[in-house]
Amino acid sequence: MKKTNFYQPVKIGVLGLGTVGSGVTRMLAHNAGEIRRRAGREIIITHAAARNLNTITANTIGIKLTEQALNVVQDPEISMILELIGGYEPARELILCALDNGKHVVTANKALIAKYGNEIFAAARMARKIVGFEAAVAGGIPIIKALREGLAGNQIEWVAGIINGTANFILSEMQDKGRDFPEAMAEAQRLGYTENDPTLDIKGIDAAHKLTILASIAFGIPLRSEKVYTEGIGGITYEDVAYATRLGYSIKHLGIARRGENGVQLRVHPTFIPKRQLLANVNGVMNAIMVKGNAVGQSLFYGAGAGAEPTASAVVADIIDIVRNLKTDPESRVPYLGFQPEALLDLPVIPINEVETACYLRILALDRPGVLADITRILANHGISIEAFMQKETHLTASKVPVVLLINPVKEEKMNKAISAIESLDSILAPIMRIRLEYLDT
Ligand code: HSE
Repeated sequence: MKKTNFYQPVKIGVLGLGTVGSGVTRMLAHNAGEIRRRAGREIIITHAAARNLNTITANTIGIKLTEQALNVVQDPEISMILELIGGYEPARELILCALDNGKHVVTANKALIAKYGNEIFAAARMARKIVGFEAAVAGGIPIIKALREGLAGNQIEWVAGIINGTANFILSEMQDKGRDFPEAMAEAQRLGYTENDPTLDIKGIDAAHKLTILASIAFGIPLRSEKVYTEGIGGITYEDVAYATRLGYSIKHLGIARRGENGVQLRVHPTFIPKRQLLANVNGVMNAIMVKGNAVGQSLFYGAGAGAEPTASAVVADIIDIVRNLKTDPESRVPYLGFQPEALLDLPVIPINEVETACYLRILALDRPGVLADITRILANHGISIEAFMQKETHLTASKVPVVLLINPVKEEKMNKAISAIESLDSILAPIMRIRLEYLDT
């Protein structure tokens, strides 16, 4: 077996020289002295693969370039691969091949870890190599390290996070500038915040990937991306945002993982949060994650969730971690999901129908006597209690009136039945808008 020389520079191969890849090459060069002092070794990128070498803008002086990622993954000179391509394939295949070829891996690929992480971690254990994925969740915020290490003594009760910067930017624009959804969305695209496929941001899929990873590390459960209840922000109107403000709330797109007696809740959806909560005041493209541990109480982690430099910050931290761990026995390394693999618990994921939450309802009704009585009767018949009520006079649409209700915590199934019953009244003019509400107090 080839003997590692611990005084030689650590050589890295990069797959993908887009925004993040360029950020990493820049950061490794710019902070080289500090990184060497921290890692104890020089760390250099020697090889890189990009889909089209004619389009790369990164500084690649001294880097051997190819369009064949497999050549980098199989190169015996390299001891670590950075997978910065994104998507499922060929990223998955290349990571497995890198591990098979005795290389450590760092990836920023949230979709891949959420869906194939269980397989990738098993392969890494077999190969006795390390896979770092700090950059997969919330860009520059070291939330994986915080949960796996800093909070390791706690039983984590819940995690609630703004983990998609694009969705947060859009909701912030609607709230602060009075924009409606399409206008705010166009601005997000113009500024280059969205994923290549913006539906991943808007429909909550990107946030669901990140929540999957957070939940597994918080509770020590296998990655179960297919079990996350996911709703996007596409249906939110400026009206909803304005009502939220009047009622003392902000609408945030949250990823929530909560552990209860019967299992875990995994859900991503727009959420009313009281304005007094710090999380309600996280605006623009910023990310923030609130963690409730049984010893530490509530902690909030805030920072940039995307962009070349913040993401590179997480990737380079993983690289340094791996270099520091080159001499440690694989069994002594921090486990991927923060818990020993044989101690993972396959806790049931509670179906959304059984989850209990408070909520906001916006009901567009005919302005005629008895309509409100019909609505409240249906709610009462379902045993649902009203926390607050608001009906705003409307001059423009004289015969229609929006009725806004805040509903006390109720099981989803019961709320769904009541919503259907209200919608079937002939005085109700449009599907009811329901947005769940979280106090985030306990
Ligand atoms: N599209 C993602 C976001 C990028 O908006 O948060 C970072 O994962």
